[in-house]
Amino acid sequence: MNDNPSEHRPEQRQGRPQEPDQGGASITSFFHELRQTNSGVLLRISAIAAIGGLLFGYDTGVISGALLYIKDDLHAGTQAQQWIVSTLLLGAILGAVLSGYLADRISRKYTKVISGIVYVIGALGCAFAVNVPMLIGFRFVLGLSVGTASFVAPLYISEVSPPRIRGGLVSFNQLAITSGILLSYLVNFAFKDAANNWRWMLGVAVIPGAALAIGMLTVPHTPRWLMEQHREDDARGVLQKLREGDGKDSDVDGEIDEIKDAAKSERSSKLGDLFHGRLRPLLWIGLGLAIFQQFVGINTVIYYAPTILADTGLTKSASITQTVFVGVTNVVFTVVAVLLLDRVGRRKLLLTGTVGLTIALAVLGVYFTSRTLQQQAGWLALVALLVYIASFAIGLGPVFWLMISEIYPTGVRSKAMSVATVANWAANFVVAVTFLSLGQAITRQGTFFLYTGIGVVAFLFFLSRVPETSNRSLEDIQQELTAPRS
Ligand code: BGC
Repeated sequence: MNDNPSEHRPEQRQGRPQEPDQGGASITSFFHELRQTNSGVLLRISAIAAIGGLLFGYDTGVISGALLYIKDDLHAGTQAQQWIVSTLLLGAILGAVLSGYLADRISRKYTKVISGIVYVIGALGCAFAVNVPMLIGFRFVLGLSVGTASFVAPLYISEVSPPRIRGGLVSFNQLAITSGILLSYLVNFAFKDAANNWRWMLGVAVIPGAALAIGMLTVPHTPRWLMEQHREDDARGVLQKLREGDGKDSDVDGEIDEIKDAAKSERSSKLGDLFHGRLRPLLWIGLGLAIFQQFVGINTVIYYAPTILADTGLTKSASITQTVFVGVTNVVFTVVAVLLLDRVGRRKLLLTGTVGLTIALAVLGVYFTSRTLQQQAGWLALVALLVYIASFAIGLGPVFWLMISEIYPTGVRSKAMSVATVANWAANFVVAVTFLSLGQAITRQGTFFLYTGIGVVAFLFFLSRVPETSNRSLEDIQQELTAPRS
């Protein structure tokens, strides 16, 4: 096993968002190293990064339960419900685009402080919304913060962590997202019978938002950003502080040199490089993974699981309770995935997971087609949802984020990753804004059969295009991908 791929991939060391040196596989060594290190600063930073992912997950999940009550309370029809869910995603797209600029301009640290403050404003606005337009407006505000957090949290942490644990961060982040979703389902469960339940569900998010803003005020700027501001002495000071108490020999000068090299290589490459010639196949793989990750309908389950379950005849309260199983399954299988990604390989997990979720989608389609099944086998819908979410969590969920941080050369990596991230948010938006309308136009079962078809196409795309990246050098992967096809 490649225990320390950073030794084999020197060009991957210092970099932009979610840049791993060791892939997600190293989450176990990530926790191990984290335990070993004496640096309180690093531990605090990891906790704060986890809040970033948690916020991302919380807000994508919380709306699922809240929606059941909002639709009656604020008289929201199908269109209005879709917009309540989806404007957050529009905000997230804008937030992800703006945050790259802000993170360079005012620092990663203050961008995250602002993101926490905006989040608190958004959460309060949603909790006190008196009508649908106000709710939609504040969901957009929340989205700005979620998009920013999803981009800057991994960026910040990848720039402060020692190279040997940077790799575990991508998976750590996916784990934080799924934990955020589960947390939101538990909050939905806790408040389901309370007065003003949906207001509490949406309002509780003020707590992690405030924790993020205040927490970020207490951590340092990243060395990378300080170097970009020509503050090399400050960068060195921060690095020394971060690596203090680090049991292993730390090489602060070496890290400073890596930062300089990475910055030079980024300055000499352009985004346009991705669209022509050798690198183009890599762009397609990133975009394919980003779009298929959403087009197989994952977030219809995350956002609408209680709505789907309520359609099987369950009460609102029982639907919210059963949704908790969906959240737990998601977290448990994400843990299984991060433990297996290096051993089994990304490609195998991706393909197996895609087969599993496609079968589950077909079963959901059949279930909603057959009255007999609906009357006599109500459990089948829940089982299919659980198989679906487990299959996603074991493959496409973590593999997308991992692969886009592994397949691109240093010079274009941060740009390519932001293109893939924005494409992912945009595809997420398209699915969320059409799911309920599709249900009306081509029926609920028709919608699931449509996603089944997309699952088949996704499988064929992955089978023919996506390489194995675990335990291989970057040069090796790129050579395979960019060689002329026979
Ligand atoms: C996806 C999110 C999704 C989550 C579910 C992530 O990888 O990007 O859109 O909500 O997984 O666990």
